[in-house]
Amino acid sequence: MTGPARSPVLDHLARWLRQRGELGSPQFVLETMDEAEARALVARVLEEGALEKGRGGVAAPPVPRTPEPAPAPPSRPPPTTSRAPSAEEDSGSGAGPGEPLPQLPSDHEELRTLCLDCTRCGLSETRTQVVFHDGNPGARLMVVGEGPGANEDRTGRPFVGRAGRYLDLLLASVGLTREESVYICNVVKCRPPGNRNPRPEEIEACAPYLRQQIAIVQPEAILAVGTFSAQLLTDSSIPLGRLRGEIHAWEGIPLVVTYHPAALLRNSGWVQPTWEDLQLLRQILDGSDSHGH
Ligand code: URA
Repeated sequence: MTGPARSPVLDHLARWLRQRGELGSPQFVLETMDEAEARALVARVLEEGALEKGRGGVAAPPVPRTPEPAPAPPSRPPPTTSRAPSAEEDSGSGAGPGEPLPQLPSDHEELRTLCLDCTRCGLSETRTQVVFHDGNPGARLMVVGEGPGANEDRTGRPFVGRAGRYLDLLLASVGLTREESVYICNVVKCRPPGNRNPRPEEIEACAPYLRQQIAIVQPEAILAVGTFSAQLLTDSSIPLGRLRGEIHAWEGIPLVVTYHPAALLRNSGWVQPTWEDLQLLRQILDGSDSHGH
């Protein structure tokens, strides 16, 4: 990534990484990212940084929204490894509070359109907009976070704040970008007010959308970031620290769980294990490469 004459954009990247280091995130390995990818990533980071400045000064202080360790998990819908009722089976008429969902479309755009009008839980009353996904529905990797924060609620895109930029860097460090190779969504699609944790009934109401997103995208691997996502997708109440570091499965799709990027901003001790989890993920993707995907 370095050349004899460093361009301003790479200087920006170096500065950005130094700042991350000062904030306690000392380890970034960017060897798999080529210069074009680095440029695209830095342009995006700078553009969003400028937007943040425009709104209120220098980058906001780290306000991780995912507590680690996590609370007890909700009474979640079973994962499809243990055969959850599918979105199709979860059929009924209408999608108001507490009502069963109608049969969910198997077309991504139709599913998104349906979800944008969802009123299945109380979060629909306080949201600005539904945050359905970002990235490529044909992606190799699906990243599942917890739920939208203020920036996401405002823009309609998941992971656009500080945690999102951190996530982009982590993904870039193993050669993945949301533009091409990653599809990003959340356990709950609407912002919990004041960034509180999503409630069990909210997670349950939203889970059919996530199940259907996975069924449509059919990624080669899933990365669950943070406790809510990890516990939902592994159908477990085991703390994240004990779930990470191994390969789980969701309906036969390899699943890696790791710390939420917002938690990394708060606790640099989790950077190294996260890096190891990303390596595991890379190995899965490299393995599926060699198996003809
Ligand atoms: N945290 C999440 O888990 N998801 C987002 O979209 C933003 C922050």
